[in-house]
Amino acid sequence: MIYLNGQFMPIEEARIPVLDRGFIFGDGVYEVIPVYSRHAFRLAEHLRRLQHSLDGIRLKNPHSTTEWAALINRIIENNEGEDQYIYLHITRGVAKRDHAFPKDVQPTVFLMSNPLIHPAADLRETGVAAVTATDNRWLRCDIKAISLLPNVLLRQMAVDANAAETLMLREGFLTEGAASNIFVVYNDILLAPPKSHLMLPGITYDVVLELAEANSMQHEVREISEYEVRSAQELWMTSSTKEVLPITSLDGKPVGTGKPGHVYHRMYALYQEYKA
Ligand code: PDD
Repeated sequence: MIYLNGQFMPIEEARIPVLDRGFIFGDGVYEVIPVYSRHAFRLAEHLRRLQHSLDGIRLKNPHSTTEWAALINRIIENNEGEDQYIYLHITRGVAKRDHAFPKDVQPTVFLMSNPLIHPAADLRETGVAAVTATDNRWLRCDIKAISLLPNVLLRQMAVDANAAETLMLREGFLTEGAASNIFVVYNDILLAPPKSHLMLPGITYDVVLELAEANSMQHEVREISEYEVRSAQELWMTSSTKEVLPITSLDGKPVGTGKPGHVYHRMYALYQEYKA
């Protein structure tokens, strides 16, 4: 069961006019919200980031926080599975093709739920491979925009190299992954790049930093150089669907010992405890 513009229906029945600005221009924003044991995880934070994205594209929020929570809870109720993820998508609506904003147009609002498939245990044991690429995206990566063409191309670059993720470097510094944030353990300190217009402020990223702080794990939020990335003891990727996943090879070379490190194991355990 999905939600589209005021109605709940099976996904097969959902229809979008071809002039939807999401289809024509990629003019919209989205959120991905994990659901654990049928409860949306960090909902207030996801809705706050949604507001930031909407402000970034100058689109009025079509719903209050209470309305969003009610819609999301109904989607959860109407879908099976204890663990799900909600995909929430808003576009500027349907209008004659013109780049400038149309007047008096209703936004398109779409919500669906999919099963949340946790990364397989053996992936967490071995870690995943990643490659690096130049971050060639625009300068508003803090907006969770549906126009994801650079991210699509960057992620495919990883898949073509039998890797799970592409780490992006801009002017010699780490920004993030094609669909994840990246953490680095260097000199026994957990490092995270600072939030800015160059990366998505990840909800999982916030949780990891809060857990590091609460558990007195040494950590720093600062710019991370390409050298530090390439000589890291540990690399992790984080996202709502992958949680915290170790990267054990980068551009075909082992990261640290080539196995998930002890800082990762500690954080993974803390994360599982926290989300329960
Ligand atoms: N992507 N950076 C980018 C570019 C992302 O696309 C994502 C998540 C993240 C991690 O953010 P969070 O921890 O809030 O999920 C960082 C989602 C999962 C997606 O597009 O499917």
